[in-house]
Amino acid sequence: MPDPNGPKTFLITGASSGIGAATARAAVAAGFRVALAARSADKLAALADELGSGNAVAIACDVTDFVAQQAMAAAAVEAFGRIDVVLANAGLGSTAGGIENGDPDNWREMILTNIYGCALTAKVCLPEVRKRKGHILLLGSRAGRRTIKGSIYGATKWAVTGLGNNLIEELEGTGVRCTLIEPGMVDTPFFETAKPDALKAEDVANAIMYAVSQPDHVDVSEILVKPISR
Ligand SMILES: NC(=O)c1ccc[n+]([C@@H]2O[C@H](COP(=O)([O-])OP(=O)(O)OC[C@H]3O[C@@H](n4cnc5c(N)ncnc54)[C@H](OP(=O)(O)O)[C@@H]3O)[C@@H](O)[C@H]2O)c1
Repeated sequence: MPDPNGPKTFLITGASSGIGAATARAAVAAGFRVALAARSADKLAALADELGSGNAVAIACDVTDFVAQQAMAAAAVEAFGRIDVVLANAGLGSTAGGIENGDPDNWREMILTNIYGCALTAKVCLPEVRKRKGHILLLGSRAGRRTIKGSIYGATKWAVTGLGNNLIEELEGTGVRCTLIEPGMVDTPFFETAKPDALKAEDVANAIMYAVSQPDHVDVSEILVKPISR
C-alpha cells in the first residue's frame, strides 16, 4: 500500500523522450517521485530503470484515449498514493504542406494528441491534484504565440494557449496552480535532424522546475523561453 504522505508525485505525459524525459530526470533530482506516461513501453521502462524503481513508475498510455488516461491517473495513485504535479507534454508535429497541401490524417492525429490529449490529462488528474493543492503545467509552444504560415501544428498550440488560460481561470481560488510552458525550438527527437542552435530539453526542464519550485503563494502563469539565436 503506497504511503499517501510520502514524497510528492509528478506525472508526466510524453515522458519517453525529449522534454518529458528531461523533466522526469530533473523532478527525481528535486525529490519527486515520477509517473512516466507515453505509448513506448520499452523506452519508459528503460527510463524508470535509470531513475530507480522506488522513484518512478512506467505507465503505457495513448493520450488520445480517455479510458487509457483515466487508467494512467489511477495507476499513478496506485503506485505512489498521490498526484501533486502534472505536465501535459505529449505532442507531435506536422508533416509539410500547409493547409492547401497538408495531410488531413496527420492533422487529426495532431489535434487529438496536442489538444484533446492535453485537456484529458488535466481532466483525469485534477481530482487528485485538487486534494493536494497541486500544480498543472501544459506544454504549449512559442508557436502558440505567433503566426506561422499554414501551420496546423501552430494552430494546435494556439489551442493549448487557450486551454491553459481558461484552466487558470477555472482553477482560481482552488489553490491549484497552472502554468503554460511555451518553448521556442528545442533539439529533441521531435525533429528528424539535429538542431544545434536550439534549446536543449534540459533548458525547458529547468523552466518547468522553476515554476514548480516556487513558494506556495507564487503562481507562475506562463513561461516563454527561446534560443538566443532565433
Ligand atoms: N521540440 C520543439 O522544438 C518543441 C518546441 C515547443 C514545444 N514543443 C512541445 O513539447 C512537447 C514534447 O516534445 P519534444 O520536443 O520533447 O518531442 P519528442 O522527443 O518527440 O517527445 C514527444 C513525446 O510525446 C509522446 N507522445 C506522442 N504522441 C503520444 C500519444 N498519442 N500518447 C502518449 N504520448 C505521446 C512521445 O512518446 P511515444 O511516441 O512513446 O508515445 C514522446 O514521449 C510536445 O508537446 C511538443 O509539441 C516542442
